[in-house]
Amino acid sequence: MNIDFSHIADLFGTPTYVYDASEIRKRIRMVCSVFKGHEFSILFALKANSNSALLRLMAEEGVGADVVSSGELVAAKRAGMKPVLWNGNGKTVQDKKFFVKQGFDILSLDSVEELEMWHDSDLVKLLRVNPNIDARTHPHISTGMKHHKFGVAVEEIHKVADKIDGLHVHIGSQITSVEPYRAAYTQLVEEIKKHNFKTLDLGGGWGIDYNGESLDIDQMRSVINTVFSGFSGRLIVELGRFIAGPAGSLLTRVVKVKKGEKTFIVTDAGMNNLIRPALYDAFHRIRVLEPVGPASLCDVVGPLCETGDKLGSNRYLELPAEGSLLLVEDTGAYGFSMASNYNGMPLPAEVMWEDNSPRLIRRRQTIEEMYSNVILD
Ligand code: LLP
Repeated sequence: MNIDFSHIADLFGTPTYVYDASEIRKRIRMVCSVFKGHEFSILFALKANSNSALLRLMAEEGVGADVVSSGELVAAKRAGMKPVLWNGNGKTVQDKKFFVKQGFDILSLDSVEELEMWHDSDLVKLLRVNPNIDARTHPHISTGMKHHKFGVAVEEIHKVADKIDGLHVHIGSQITSVEPYRAAYTQLVEEIKKHNFKTLDLGGGWGIDYNGESLDIDQMRSVINTVFSGFSGRLIVELGRFIAGPAGSLLTRVVKVKKGEKTFIVTDAGMNNLIRPALYDAFHRIRVLEPVGPASLCDVVGPLCETGDKLGSNRYLELPAEGSLLLVEDTGAYGFSMASNYNGMPLPAEVMWEDNSPRLIRRRQTIEEMYSNVILD
C-alpha cells in the first residue's frame, strides 16, 4: 500500500502515528490461517494499541479483546469487540465492580488466591499457568519463568481444577522461536487431558521482523496442529504486536541535522512518543523519505533533555534536510500506547490509512488538554 505520508504531514502535522488498515486485516487473516481446523478465538491485546477506531476494524474481522484495566475495557466496548477477556495480576475490587457492571466474558485468574474474589460468578474462568520456560526474549518482556510474578506452577492446578474451565499461558513477547511455545503447550495439553478442560488460552508474543528475525508462522501452525491434534475444545490466542506492530509507522519531521564525527538527526518525535528504543534498546527501521545527502553514520534523536532520548543509534542513513520527513517503522504496537507527556509534550495524533485516503482517528492533544486535570487553587 502506497501511503502518502507527505500529504498526511501537511494535513495533520507531526509527530503522527499512521496505521495501514489493510495490513491489519491481512495480519488477522494470517492468524486465522494458523488455527484453521480448530475451534478458536482471536483476541487483540489492547495494551499494544487501544485506539477504538483501529479496534473497530479488528472487531469487523471477528477479533475480541484481551484487556487489563477498566480503561481498556471501555475502549474494547466502544469498538464492539467480543468476547472480552480480563487479564491481570492485580485486579482491584473497584475494577471488579466496573467490569461486572459493564459485562465481560472470560476471566484469567493469576493466582489460586484470586479465585476467592470470583467464587459466586458464572464467567468462563481460566487459570494462568507459569510453565517455567525461558522465552529467550528481552528480560523485561519475558514472563514465563518461575521467578516471574505471573501465574501459578503446574503443580497447583489440581487445587482449583473443579472450579475453573481451562488454562492460560503467556510466556513473553517478541518471541522469534517456536520451541518455547512447543514446550509450554506440551506441558499444558497433558494437564488439559487430565482435568478435561474445554478452553485453553495460548497467550500472545509472536515476534515480528524488526530487524530480520521473526516467528515463522508455518512452523507455528505445525506446532499447534501437532500439540493439539487430540484436543477438541476452544483455543484462544491473544496477540498484540503481531497484529498491529508492522501496520504502524511514526511519521516525524527533521528539526536539525547536526554534522560532526557522528551526525545527529534531531526529529520532532522523541522517547515521549516512542519509548521502546530508550527503554529496551529496541531496534526500529528508520526511513528517510526525502534524502538529500549521501549515507552517513547517524544517531536519530528526539528533542527531549535526556541522552537516552533516541529513535535509532549508529545508523547509516542518507541524510535528510531540515524540515523533511522520516518514518520510524513497525511502531503500531507499544508505540502510542506507551507514549507520555514527558518534557511537557502533548500526545501525538493518530491517522488511519484506508481505501487510499487518510482519516484522523485521534486528534493531537493540546497543551490545554494536557494540563486540564491539574488543580491550581
Ligand atoms: N497476553 C498477555 C497476558 C500479555 O501480558 C501480553 C503482553 C500479551 C498477551 C500480548 O503480547 P504480544 O502479542 O503483543 O507480544 N511494552 C513491551 C511489550 C510488553 C508486553 C506485555 N504483555 C514492548 O514494547 O516490547
